[in-house]
Amino acid sequence: MKRSPPPGDAAPGGGGGESHKLWGGRFKASSAAALVAVNRSIEVDFRLWPFDIRASQAWAAALQSAGVLTAEESRAIHTGLGKVAERIKGGELPIESDEDVHTMIDRLLHAEIGDPASRLHTGRSRNDQVATASRMWAMAAAAAIDSEVRELQSVMLEHANGLTDAVMPAYTHLQRAQPVSAAHWMLSHFWPLQRDRERLASAMRAASSLPLGSGAIAGSAYRVPRDQLGESLAFAKISENSIDAVGDRDFIADLLYAIAMMSVHLSRLAEDMILFGSSEFGFVRFGDTFTTGSSMMPQKRNPDALEIARGFAARSLGAITSLLATLKGLPSGYNKDLQDDKRILFEAVDSALLVLPAVAGGLAESAFQIDVMERAVSSGMMATDLADYLVGKGVSFRDAHAAVGNLVRAAEEASCELDELPAARITSAHSMFGADAREWLNARASIGRREVAGGTGPNAVITQIEAALALITRTPYS
Ligand code: ARG
Repeated sequence: MKRSPPPGDAAPGGGGGESHKLWGGRFKASSAAALVAVNRSIEVDFRLWPFDIRASQAWAAALQSAGVLTAEESRAIHTGLGKVAERIKGGELPIESDEDVHTMIDRLLHAEIGDPASRLHTGRSRNDQVATASRMWAMAAAAAIDSEVRELQSVMLEHANGLTDAVMPAYTHLQRAQPVSAAHWMLSHFWPLQRDRERLASAMRAASSLPLGSGAIAGSAYRVPRDQLGESLAFAKISENSIDAVGDRDFIADLLYAIAMMSVHLSRLAEDMILFGSSEFGFVRFGDTFTTGSSMMPQKRNPDALEIARGFAARSLGAITSLLATLKGLPSGYNKDLQDDKRILFEAVDSALLVLPAVAGGLAESAFQIDVMERAVSSGMMATDLADYLVGKGVSFRDAHAAVGNLVRAAEEASCELDELPAARITSAHSMFGADAREWLNARASIGRREVAGGTGPNAVITQIEAALALITRTPYS
């Protein structure tokens, strides 16, 4: 494609420090500086370059199949793009006139191979080009996040393995509820991350649809073999509609949602850990390398990594909201509003990749205080067990609940624990209470009774650990 540069623009084919533009023939005056500044996206999209180069190499091959390029031209473009990649890898930086990464690569390709470079942009537009490179980037990003999530899951599993015999209170409404195995609590943070990995895999599948060949909006006028093109770029399928393909950013929304949900899960884990690490709880001691001190209070050890993870959730909720707001009410096809999709996506992915290893590291070096946890389990937490004792004797759960409730009140009034009530007081609460009732106020026995699948019983937890282990040894998208 030959372009006539607008007045003031250097001729194409330059490179180095010369100006280079992919459009301009129909303009008499050159763009206003304020437009250039606001329209420029290279600071954001520069990182798409490896994908844009690969997609352009594949496009050159497709143009050859369509009879647009000779084998020689296609080869020259392919090699030239390889050299451009080397130059960028070697530190080549954008110049003033590089509106976006596609312009920069086009400029450098002209500098490398001259004329045949002008034929590469036949039948394609930056609209299908940027959608293609963004999808490739998103797939790689989802895989990178998945592997960090898996790292964090392994840390959780390691802790779970060491905590199978530890007993701790489980909380509802942040009030002591029932005793559980500490491994069971740890694994309660594993499964949400597993669902996040499934969401990441599904976002990856959504991204794996090739837009290239859609042109600006109506589809390429050249008979490029799109199926082959998609296969060569490792896409699972090709897009079905060119108008949809250039304006579809659902795959970014899917990935941002997966990240947002994952960040919410991280923030809940972080909150549990921060609470448990406070002196009031004392269930966990943080290590040295993922905590910070205070410039004023010498005694402080602050769980900054976890707090940053909690804060990250706020930003990822902002990211998905921001993208959906961009898409809402947008006319079909490509609109420049879409240029901001990458700013939002890159920021969210970068943050996720910073936060995940920090949470994994902080968790790995945390030491759970098994004795403190167990001491926090009081006999009142086994009130349900005492009611279950009566149920075992044929009493209805409602009557049992009332009788035990009565005992709880008695203990509260006597300022003692449930198991400190005199035996006679217990038996007086219901005729079916026998001398063995107090044995049901034992935490380990309570845990032992919960061998239902998914429960906190020791064998159920071992089964759970085995299932979890099997999941982190394979990737959900493979
Ligand atoms: N830099 C643009 C983006 O990121 C590339 C597509 C531009 N298309 C256009 N017709 N101006 O969205």
